[in-house]
Amino acid sequence: MDVISVIRTKRDRGELSPEQIDWVIDAYTRGEVADEQMSALAMAILLNGMNRTEIARWTAAMIASGERMNFDSLSRPTADKHSTGGVGDKITLPLAPLVAACGAAVPQLSGRGLGHTGGTLDKLESIPGWRALLSNEEMLNVLDTTGAVICAAGDGLAPADKKLYALRDVTGTVEAIPLIASSIMSKKIAEGTGSLVLDVKVGTGAFMKNIEDARELASTMVALGTDSGVKTVALLTDMSTPLGLTAGNALEVRESVEVLAGGGPADVVELTIALAREMLDAAGIKDADPAKALADGSAMDVWRRMIAAQGGDPDATLPVAREQHVITAPSSGVLTRLDAYDIGVAAWRLGAGRARKEDPVQAGAGVELHAKPGDTVTAGQPLMTLHTDTPEKFEYALESVAGSYDVAPAGTGFTANQIVLERIA
Ligand code: URA
Repeated sequence: MDVISVIRTKRDRGELSPEQIDWVIDAYTRGEVADEQMSALAMAILLNGMNRTEIARWTAAMIASGERMNFDSLSRPTADKHSTGGVGDKITLPLAPLVAACGAAVPQLSGRGLGHTGGTLDKLESIPGWRALLSNEEMLNVLDTTGAVICAAGDGLAPADKKLYALRDVTGTVEAIPLIASSIMSKKIAEGTGSLVLDVKVGTGAFMKNIEDARELASTMVALGTDSGVKTVALLTDMSTPLGLTAGNALEVRESVEVLAGGGPADVVELTIALAREMLDAAGIKDADPAKALADGSAMDVWRRMIAAQGGDPDATLPVAREQHVITAPSSGVLTRLDAYDIGVAAWRLGAGRARKEDPVQAGAGVELHAKPGDTVTAGQPLMTLHTDTPEKFEYALESVAGSYDVAPAGTGFTANQIVLERIA
């Protein structure tokens, strides 16, 4: 097998054979295929696609590159959720303890933010003492004793994906549906969850900008999961505007705790409950009521135990950025647009995100919104507050915020987007 013939096959719009796929993934993981060769192949895949047979084999080869976990020793059924990434998407934080409070075991192997979308681990690391890195044994122990665990995926899980994702990130080849689907599903299948709910984001703040692409990604992933024996369902959800009122690490933890305390923004509560219902259904738990578990404090109890089990202090004061800058409404009327991508970029530029994998993030940095699309605003009232420890970042963040919103005269028609757009099973 030689790598140039594999690249040429895909360059010339051919179908990769199972042997070519198995070999190239294995040889790349071992370092026999060079980064520049794999990036040529990734670009050929981005441009010419892969069919479902190729995607299934590619996913299987990435799973085979590492270990597979197993939760058979647990007494509860397992349910996991994966979001394709968005702005203000803190849903995993209230969702994992909520679903655990309703009777499932929730193993959430999560990632860090890169670019304008935030990462669950970065958010939780703003809680003093909390540790993302657990051994497999520790992870199983937290899951068994509290019902939920949110931690970093170990190095042994789909190492081919780890290497390939880092390469795609710097070669403009992230946005390929076959590569995204196989990347996400290889990790989820290797993780060993019994059921999986996919939150496929659609809109300016998401990888998938339109509903057709989101549908294609969702149905590809549902087929991969189902064919591997994982009960898999996808919701397509709106990411044209940020979720909730915050984008930034500690800011989003604060908002998640509000949701667990029975409050919080309506869109975050709606999506958390919708995903919880799907996870419980997929796990075969029929008689639980997630709305009740939020209202009666049982989800909050699991959150506190889960945070403490990973070294965090659930009562600690969360970090606050040193500097704030308030942006006010330029005129009175209705806020008709607040763009998820622009707000995500502003939060990132303020220090909430990173440009390179090894960069640190600021716990307190981000954007706090004071109005959402559909709200009536008065000229001069605060629209949003920018938070950072490094005030020289304000100017760059303001460039992103400048075109992020529209205020139209009162009486202008406005229809809010639904949060859940479609369900694919
Ligand atoms: N998340 C992943 O894990 N992989 C991708 O390719 C894109 C988003």
